[in-house]
Amino acid sequence: MSDIYTIKIRDRSSGKEYTLEVPEDRYILHSGEKQGVELPFSCRNGACTTCAVRVLSGEIYQPEAMGLSAELQRQGYALLCVSYARSDLYVETQDEDEVYKLQFGRYFAKGKVKAGLPIEED
Ligand code: FES
Repeated sequence: MSDIYTIKIRDRSSGKEYTLEVPEDRYILHSGEKQGVELPFSCRNGACTTCAVRVLSGEIYQPEAMGLSAELQRQGYALLCVSYARSDLYVETQDEDEVYKLQFGRYFAKGKVKAGLPIEED
């Protein structure tokens, strides 16, 4: 038998708060849908950051969250489509594109994106 955790999700766009019961071996987004909770998502495979939340308390496990930098994961962001609960959790949805901007806006601002482009340097 897997453990079941209680997940509270605050949707910042609507001001609503949801409470879910999520088994430790199920993705949180998927469990939410099965319980009638509509949350933002797009790719469902940890790439697009549409489903990103900020973890306010508790522990989350997201080994497949390839769309989220290690730094943002350390800052407490998580992708619900590929996240498992490891304790009871309290999370809140992001502002629109918040994670995308944090992740990529920074590189453009510092000009680091040059490293990814075919620019000849000599
Ligand atoms: S829906 Fe795309 S990262 Fe979760």
